[in-house]
This record gives sequence, C-alpha cells and structure tokens, in this order.
Amino acid sequence: MHLITNKILRWYNQGHRDLPWRNTNNPYKIWVSEIILQQTRVAQGTSYYERFINEFPDIFSLAQSSEEKVLKSWEGLGYYSRARNMIFTSKEIVTKFNGIFPNKYKELIKLKGIGSYTAAAIASFAFKECVPAIDGNVKRVLSRLEEVNIDIKSAQSQKYFQNLSYKFISNQSPDLYNQAMMELGALICIPKRPKCETCPLNEECLANLNQTTNQFPNKSLKIEVKERIINYISFRIDDEWLLKKRELKDIWNGLYDFYELKENDIELNLILANYIKKNELKITELEHILTHRRLKVKIFEIALNKDTYEKLFFAGKENLKFYSGDLLAKIPKPILIAKYIQTNTNCYGRSK
Ligand code: ADE
Ligand code: SF4
Repeated sequence: MHLITNKILRWYNQGHRDLPWRNTNNPYKIWVSEIILQQTRVAQGTSYYERFINEFPDIFSLAQSSEEKVLKSWEGLGYYSRARNMIFTSKEIVTKFNGIFPNKYKELIKLKGIGSYTAAAIASFAFKECVPAIDGNVKRVLSRLEEVNIDIKSAQSQKYFQNLSYKFISNQSPDLYNQAMMELGALICIPKRPKCETCPLNEECLANLNQTTNQFPNKSLKIEVKERIINYISFRIDDEWLLKKRELKDIWNGLYDFYELKENDIELNLILANYIKKNELKITELEHILTHRRLKVKIFEIALNKDTYEKLFFAGKENLKFYSGDLLAKIPKPILIAKYIQTNTNCYGRSK
C-alpha cells in the first residue's frame, strides 16, 4: 500500500463526520446525496437530503412522482436540470433494470446526469469498485500534494487526476479512500489557508514542503459570468399572484415565475408606463448570482382588482394564472421569486 494511502485511511478511521449518506450502501441514496452535494455544502445539503429521501424513499417513488413535486423538493438548490435528469434516470432504471441500480462504473456513467464523479462515487461507495471519485475537493488535495499545474477547470484535468489517483486508491477500501480524500479536502486542505500543521499528509505534500500551497490548485481559466437582465411585471390581486410555468430550454425550466416583460412587448410597456406615471406600482431591484450568470432583476409590481385585470388584453393568455394559499406554496419557484412573494404577501398596505 502506498504510504499516502495508509496515512489518509488511518486519519479517516480515527474520526470523521457522521453524515447520513455514509451509513448506507444503498446506491439510490448515495446517488441522491451526491447530486445534492454538487449543488451545496454539507451543512445545507444534509437537510435537503433528509427531506428528499423522506419524500422519495426509493427509485420507484421518484420515478412515479410528478416533476412538480420533485422540483419543489429541490427548490432553492438551483440547477434544476439536475432534478429533472434524476427523474428521467429513475424512470430508465425502473423500466430497463427493474428498479435495480447498475453496479458498475461503466454502466453508471451511461445514465443521464451521471458523470464520471457521480458514477465513481456510487460505484465505490455502494459496490466497492476501485474507481477514484474526483471532485473539486479532491483535485485541490492532489494538485497540492504533487504540485500539479494543470488547470483544474480544464477538460483534461478530470482524466489527469483520475489517472494520478490510481497510484493512491486502496484496492481493499476504495470507498473509504474516496470518502477520506473528500473529507481531507473539506476539513483540512481547504481553499484558503489549508491546515497543513494537522494534515496527515504534510510530510509528503510538495506544496507544504515548498510553501506553495497558495499557488495550487491552478485556476487560471476563469468561468465567464455574463450579465442577464430580467424585467418582470408582477400582477397581484391582494394575496393572489399571477404566475406562469416556464417551459423553455432556459434557466428555471419547469418552475413558476412572473410575466417576463420583453422590450418589444409594446402594449405591456404602455400599460407599465401608465402605472409609472400614476405612481401606482412598486419597483424592486434584485441581483441574483447563478453559476454562469449574474441576473439583474427588476420587478414591477402592480396591484389590480378583478375588473381591471379582465380588461387587460392578455388576461387568460400565456398560461398565466392566479395562485394563492396552499397551491401558491406548493408550486416550485425560483428562490428569488419565492422570497419576493413571501416578503410581500400579507403586508400589503401601500398608500395611494
Ligand atoms: N461532498 C460530496 N460528496 C461527499 C460525501 N460523500 N461526503 C462528504 N462530502 C461530500
Ligand atoms: Fe493540503 Fe497542506 Fe495537507 Fe498538503 S499538507 S495536502 S496542502 S493540507
């Protein structure tokens, strides 16, 4: 066994966080946890995981659920295509494999939404297959350990770190090795000021020996973050909100939000101008950061009554419907919309 393998396994076995998905070898539960953890940190991910497993305890319950229920459970995690891919893949596993998860890395990676990291995590944690699971944490540890200069955001880096890992991964305990590397990256070999003094690998780690930890991992490729402007008109009648299901190949597909105002929407822009002139609307500006987008959101809120709404030319069009109460709470919404509605419902006292 490689010295590094020995040291990291010993360190992990001496104590680690007791996380719910570490007490199972159920591939379904491991899959769910790994997809959630791609979206968020362990602290927040744990409650999403518990809730998701409670609601969809096995692959059959997920495959049979409506998309809306799953998206609701996912609300706030972002990257909703991941949740939709999970539904797709759960159905595929039910229909093609009688609900039994494939147990090989090579088969797992063919499934929609399961990439090399997730396939390796499932294969090693559930089936003890000897494949390294390489996520951002693990790349950081390995790049420091060997002063690897390859950009961790580049396409080749996944393969590079996978190959490198075969030097270290334990044949006997690939599951523990993978968990241990992630644990080290999450707790000790952290992005800023890694805790090298207490690291079990500090005698072997080149970046520690050469005091170059701040140069690794190499992240010269910056993800370009583009700005996107979204203008909403939010119509409401008291605590009923006019919402529309998004059904485009775009962000938030399947979620509900307000009517999006486009520049060429002449009639609506005229209506809006009229309300602005009469000072009868509330304008809220928000910023929201997604992985590749910085959203600049403006919400023009207009309070109506039933009569005025029915006179508007687009009443009843575009799948726009009023939602309130339980149903409003039940439908999945982008988190900024959910928060906006929450803070603005029941505190309606605009002076005219
Ligand atoms: N982050 C991603 N996968 C994880 C796991 N299995 N345990 C802890 N943190 C993780
Ligand atoms: Fe990371 Fe420091 Fe440990 Fe090297 S010695 S693996 S840089 S924590």
